[in-house]
Amino acid sequence: MIRLASVCAPLTAALVLFATVGCDDGSAGSDPAESLDDLGTSVPDAAFAAPDGALAEPVDATPDAAPPPVPFVEPAPATDLDAADGIVELNLTASAALVSVSDDLRYSGLAYNGQVPGPTLHATVGDTLVVHFTNDLDEPTTVHWHGLRIPDDMDGNPRIQHPVQPGESFTYRFTLPDAGTFWYHPHVRSNEQVEKGLYGAIVVHDPADPRPDAERVLILDDVLVDGRGALYPFLTSHPEQMHGRHGNVLLTNGRAEPEPGEARVGQVERWRVINTANARTMVLSVQRARMRVVGTDGGALTAPYTTDRLLVAVGQRYDLEISYDRAGAAHLVSHVPVVEGDEVVEQAVSVYKVNVRAADATPPELEWPARAPIEREPDVDAELRFAVRNGPRGLEWTINEQAMPMEPLMTFEQGQTVTLTLRNLAGPEHPFHLHGQFFEIVPDGRPETEQPGLKDTVLVPGLSTVTVRAYVDNPGRWMAHCHILEHAELGMMGEFIVNPAE
Ligand code: C2O
Ligand code: CU
Repeated sequence: MIRLASVCAPLTAALVLFATVGCDDGSAGSDPAESLDDLGTSVPDAAFAAPDGALAEPVDATPDAAPPPVPFVEPAPATDLDAADGIVELNLTASAALVSVSDDLRYSGLAYNGQVPGPTLHATVGDTLVVHFTNDLDEPTTVHWHGLRIPDDMDGNPRIQHPVQPGESFTYRFTLPDAGTFWYHPHVRSNEQVEKGLYGAIVVHDPADPRPDAERVLILDDVLVDGRGALYPFLTSHPEQMHGRHGNVLLTNGRAEPEPGEARVGQVERWRVINTANARTMVLSVQRARMRVVGTDGGALTAPYTTDRLLVAVGQRYDLEISYDRAGAAHLVSHVPVVEGDEVVEQAVSVYKVNVRAADATPPELEWPARAPIEREPDVDAELRFAVRNGPRGLEWTINEQAMPMEPLMTFEQGQTVTLTLRNLAGPEHPFHLHGQFFEIVPDGRPETEQPGLKDTVLVPGLSTVTVRAYVDNPGRWMAHCHILEHAELGMMGEFIVNPAE
């Protein structure tokens, strides 16, 4: 298992370093520093985490049916209760659970339908999703559908939806307007509820997409456990309040030591990567396979691109086309900053491995339907300033000089194109998230901004400014907050309004 002996200040410009509490037991079972330059079979399996789950059973094709579904490797899917086309209906229950992330690490946490991550929800763009949600926790909760542009009263925003009380139920019902990779999680005390295990993937299929040989959902996370393997207490340490909760165990699909995937040379897959960590920005690369970025938070790109390193802020998603062009082990590698003595060094840690069998074949390049670029001139400006201060109860994170502002931060008219300036006046970074809308990041050369495509979350590095162009097309009352869940909980969460067009 990857137990990071000392964790892991984000490598921000300010390079604030700290040793995370609770991870001083030096219990790394294998050396995660194992060089990945040599990615052959010599890399010990125990150094890697990969998702569990085998290829889905092939489904018998009925005479004139569509081709069989592309096999999925993923957290187990939800069961669709409604056989009708166009409606995906399921039961979803949040409850306490003993969460088992490896054979020797279990802790008391939370789960949707008894599994962590929760069931993967599959639907096709345009479908109606009906989720009968039951709260079996001993505290209130809601379900937020991160990235979906749905009506605001279905968004799990606790300022609109009265949170679901223990023992109560609520039915979420909405139409899925966009294809892509999304996720769901609570929006009440989310720093605790998400860390404890309440998160899952939503895959909205586009029938126009090419068919890869397989798809994989890869939910990347971390958890912070103490020396006895229990979740470390929440928001008690200054580093956690300052930088968010950085875990000392990396998880892929809820497992620290899951099964490697299987493929063969010549195959092409689609990987849907989601960063559900509370705070950890991930820098990823794919080794010993070819990779193209084909989608992001808001779905398909106007043009796929290749890159050596992918910066994935918490909340963000990337869809990758993975082509197996050689036999051996292909890896998804997380480049993790760790404290070594007085220094922060980067360790390459494989967080997922696919064993690729030899075959005499060349992977084809998939043809993705081109998405037209959006050509809208900005017609309104807004600015949000992020800062930190000491409040009566400790550290407070502020937006425009207020912690947890109750008055709307901004008001727009539906259909406007907003030049939104995000000014970070403090050292720690903020992955900033808007509900219910997409935006594009205005590139300025920094990796945080060289992220083409529609997004709902953008990383704003310390002591710097990032500008986005937001398409505020979905009317309602929406949240705007930092997706470092500790920052949100400590005040960095407010609301904006989009007035409906006449
Ligand atoms: Cu995933 Cu309000 O966020
Ligand atoms: Cu933040």
